[in-house]
Amino acid sequence: MILSIESSCDDSSISITNIDTKELVYHKKISQELQHSVYGGVVPELAARLHVEALPKILLECKEYFPDLKAIAVTNAPGLAVTLMEGVMMAKALSLSLDLPLIAVNHLKGHIYSLFIEKEEIMPITILLVSGGHTQIIEAKSLNDMNIIASTMDDSFGESFDKVSKMLGLGYPGGPVVQNYALKGDNERFDFPVPLRQNPKIAFSYSGLKNAVRLAIETIDKDNEKDRADICACFQKAAIAHIMQKTKKLFSISAPKDFAIVGGASANIYLRENLEKLCAKYKTKLHLSSLEYCSDNAAMIGRVAIEQYKNNDFIKINEIDIQSRLKDFS
Ligand code: KG4
Ligand code: ZN
Repeated sequence: MILSIESSCDDSSISITNIDTKELVYHKKISQELQHSVYGGVVPELAARLHVEALPKILLECKEYFPDLKAIAVTNAPGLAVTLMEGVMMAKALSLSLDLPLIAVNHLKGHIYSLFIEKEEIMPITILLVSGGHTQIIEAKSLNDMNIIASTMDDSFGESFDKVSKMLGLGYPGGPVVQNYALKGDNERFDFPVPLRQNPKIAFSYSGLKNAVRLAIETIDKDNEKDRADICACFQKAAIAHIMQKTKKLFSISAPKDFAIVGGASANIYLRENLEKLCAKYKTKLHLSSLEYCSDNAAMIGRVAIEQYKNNDFIKINEIDIQSRLKDFS
């Protein structure tokens, strides 16, 4: 079995996965959303301190599996440097004390492998990754052959939901709350621009839309539920129209046989519905990770770790480093 640790942002999580059967034997995650909500976003140092409390608590529950462990895996990039550090330190300590090899896992590959928890992988596959930190389209041929074919030029899809929520005083994380408000709102009231509509590039941008929403919020009564709902509905409509316009363009050039949406923001129901329709039109098979594995978790890290273990892809304890940003998968 492999013990895997995830601490790239505001979720402390540990999993135990069976290397031969791919079974997820144990999985626990402690989220810090409540603690960060008062600040309207994740405060890195607070997140790091909360990992220091949560990770050892979860680890205690895993002790019975220690004799069966063959490796320790940990997310080392990308993510918040101070929070990644907590997971990596715990992984190093376990690797040393239990005399087990160490596996460094890329968090984005983790999101991709959230599709394959307790399942065989499907490759090649085209993936839309939408999270708090990323908005990308990736072409994956195998675990070690992945190419980013489109990414955001500024902010990410999930982060724009968080900012809109913050501007409306609705707390963190913004995705679920904005989605719920949008259900009650009039999506015709504000005419927000769909980003990069005239730009032929397949790329994303959310800073302009965020600014347009900010200006509109200045004209409404922020305490009025109807006004808030209308802003959320019009923002969500434009944010998703942008993803859809670029994804349609990609499909019209070459529609993939298999397509997936992963990452915390892939839980968005309106996005899922729109992509389901697009995939049906092109006879593309749409793959979704189950809702419980969309946001950050160690189960997905454990799933990648199984593949890396089989490939003997280990890292020396003094060579593992943390990286907050990654341009590509190499
Ligand atoms: O993957 P994740 O848990 O963390 C990162 O790796 O960033 O994604 C969290 C992000 C947050 O920005 C959150 O607001 C967004 O995913 N999110 C959503 C929804 N649920 C979560 N965004 C839009 N609609 C949702 N339903
Ligand atoms: Zn993530």
